[in-house]
Amino acid sequence: MQISKQVNTDMTQGSWIRKMFEAGAKLKQEFGESNVFDLSLGNPIMEPPEAFQQKLSELAKNPPPGMHRYMPNAGYKDTREAVANNLSSEIGMDFTSEDIVMCCGAGGGLNVVLKSLLDPGDEVITISPYFVEYGYYVGNHQGLLVVCPSKHNFMPDIDQIAESISAKTKAILINSPNNPTGVIYPSETMHQLGVLIRAKEAELGISITLISDEPYRKILYDDLTYPHPFRYHNKTIVVTSHSKDLGLAGERIGYIAIHPLFPEKATLLEALVFCNRTLGFVNAPALMQRITKDLQKATIDVGAYQSKRDLLYKGLIDSGYEVTWPQGAFYMFPKSPLNDDVAFTEMMLKHKVLIVPGSGFGTAGYFRLSYCVEDSVIEGAISQFQKAKALLNNA
Ligand SMILES: Cc1ncc(COP(=O)(O)O)c(C=O)c1O
Repeated sequence: MQISKQVNTDMTQGSWIRKMFEAGAKLKQEFGESNVFDLSLGNPIMEPPEAFQQKLSELAKNPPPGMHRYMPNAGYKDTREAVANNLSSEIGMDFTSEDIVMCCGAGGGLNVVLKSLLDPGDEVITISPYFVEYGYYVGNHQGLLVVCPSKHNFMPDIDQIAESISAKTKAILINSPNNPTGVIYPSETMHQLGVLIRAKEAELGISITLISDEPYRKILYDDLTYPHPFRYHNKTIVVTSHSKDLGLAGERIGYIAIHPLFPEKATLLEALVFCNRTLGFVNAPALMQRITKDLQKATIDVGAYQSKRDLLYKGLIDSGYEVTWPQGAFYMFPKSPLNDDVAFTEMMLKHKVLIVPGSGFGTAGYFRLSYCVEDSVIEGAISQFQKAKALLNNA
């Protein structure tokens, strides 16, 4: 088969999440679905809010004329306005529809942003552990992902980032609340990052864009508020989606937002719209734009995810695992009791628990758990984690 060598290599290395999916399917067939505890996938179980179903049936009953036609590549003006108004009230800055491009999920949006910014060989810095698709997304546009390890509690290490910035740095890509750790970058860290970027731009005579990937922005726990990156740096682009906050992962709807004071904003907007078109997305799904226009303030039941976080965290801590307290998203990233996180993943597979090794996120020695699952799955997994720990303690 004449497929690209690069794609062939990428596929062979494969994603751990995919591998676990396949291993899980086998186990479920052999032992039955209810005897396998799958914490490997970030596929939300929460149904979209009631308002989503209402809007969907209204549109089905009374479809506006031309509802399924092409539209401007940036998306419907009234949807972009609704997104801008919501951001203005959330952040306290003046956004307009000209700051928004509707896109096909955060994955689609990140590709549009990277395509718009990168020339071959340009570098994009990210902080590990990180969402593994970043490497592919940056590679899609001939850039190079530079991975900067985080420090204690998975916080960005500003000194390390400073060392990683070079004349080739085009962007810094952050993700908070974070997949896989669930931590939120606090305002002090965001402030330091903004100061660093501006100092390095002046020192090296380059332009660095801060890209903030925020599909979990509205999934925050313990009454925390979100330190919006827009507040700390003008040259910021936010990419987000309603995959997780409205439980619409299969519908591919999200948006890109540009800082209202981004220098040469009009040219950037034109580039984003052009790339949305030429990457073949053309526009974000029409039906979803019409629905999410009215749901900018709605979310799935975040409290239910918080209870799942509490249940899993307590179960792991009581069993003797080391876990950093997750403040948002629906992931946690405990320390692997074996130095070799892949070996521990295989051990848990024997206990019929599916997890993802930290190496799959650029950070060996840990494992990722996704708790957007039924409580019974979490409870079953905890009892298996207890058994595994007891076995290791007695070994
Ligand atoms: C950190 C992060 N970014 C981006 C995405 C892509 O999400 P989507 O394209 O569904 O919006 C995900 C999905 O899991 C993610 O975890």
